[in-house]
Amino acid sequence: MSDAKADGANDYGYRRFTLSKFNFERDEYFAHITWPGGSHTISVDRFLRALMRDVAWNFFYGTVNFDEVFGTTNHYGTVDVFGGLYNAGYRARNKQFVETLNGDSVRSTFAAMLEDWTNEGFDPFAAPEETGTPFGAKHGSNLAALRRNRVVAQRMVGLKGDTPLRSDANGNPVNRQFSDVDQSEPEVHAEPGFENEVHAFNFFAYLSRSDVTWNPSITSAVKNSLLCPTTEEYMLPIIHGNDRVEWFVQLSDEIHWDVQDRETGAPRARVVMKPGDVAAMPANIRHQGYSPRRSMLLVWEHNDSSLPELYANKKLKPNPVDF
Ligand code: PHB
Ligand code: FE
Repeated sequence: MSDAKADGANDYGYRRFTLSKFNFERDEYFAHITWPGGSHTISVDRFLRALMRDVAWNFFYGTVNFDEVFGTTNHYGTVDVFGGLYNAGYRARNKQFVETLNGDSVRSTFAAMLEDWTNEGFDPFAAPEETGTPFGAKHGSNLAALRRNRVVAQRMVGLKGDTPLRSDANGNPVNRQFSDVDQSEPEVHAEPGFENEVHAFNFFAYLSRSDVTWNPSITSAVKNSLLCPTTEEYMLPIIHGNDRVEWFVQLSDEIHWDVQDRETGAPRARVVMKPGDVAAMPANIRHQGYSPRRSMLLVWEHNDSSLPELYANKKLKPNPVDF
C-alpha cells in the first residue's frame, strides 16, 4: 500500500504532495509542511538541499534533521517522518508528531517532490557559489543533477569491474579551489597474475574533481568498513543524528562542527578540524558542519546493521575512546 499521492499544481506551478498525514507545498521562497496539530516553514534552498541528501542516501544512518523541527529517522525498511520529535520545546509541550512509514514509499514521494520543486539551473548538491537560484515560480527542471549516480564501490573505485575512477579525460574538471592539487598518478607494478588485486590511485586528485558537496561516496569497502570521502563547501544541509560512531579525518582546509545532544539539540561541543585532525563523532549526537572554503573530508563509516540496537540498548557506549 502506498502512503503517497501527488496532487495538482498550485498558483506557483508546483505540485502539492501528501505523505500519509503530512502535506507539502512550495511557493517562491518556502517549503510549507503541515501535519495534524502542527505546521512548519523552511526556506526552500535549505529544504531542497536536505531533501536531495535524504533521497540520494536512502535516509542515511540514523536521523536526517532538515532543521530543528522536521526530518526522518531511518529504521532500514521503515522510516519515521517527524515534526518536533527531537526539539526540546515541542517535546515539553507534547507537540511532536511522528509517523512510521514504508521507506520505499517515502523515498518515491520525496524523489518526485525534489524533481518537481527543483528549477532549471539549481543543483542541490553544488556549492552555492557554483549554482543558480532555487527561488521563484516553477521554471524548468534539473533532472540530470538530481539523478546523478552516487559512487558506491564494491571493493575500491578504479578496480576492474568496479566503479570507474572518472579522473582525467572522462571525468569532471578539477574544482576551482583545488587547482593546486597534484594530478600525477602512482605507478603500479603488479606481479603477473595479480593485476586485478593490486591497485592504487591519487586520492587527492580524485577528490579534487568531485562536482558535489556534502555527499560522502563509498570509495572502498572492506567488509563493513566503508571509506567515504567527500568535498565540502558552505554548510552540511542537514543536522545529522548519528545512530553509530563515525570517524572524520580532515584531509584539507577546515571544517567547523556544531555538536549537540541528539535528542534535544542542547549544545555539546564545537569542533574545529584542521588538516590531519581526526575526530570520532559519538553515537548519541547530532552535528552540522561548516566549511568556509572547499575542503576534503574522509568519513569512515561502520556499516554493521546490528550497531543501532547495540547503542540503543547501551551494550556499546556512545564514545569509542576514553581519554
Ligand atoms: C555526517 O553527518 O556525518 C556527514 C554527512 C555528510 C558529509 C559529511 C558528514 O558530507
Ligand atoms: Fe554524522
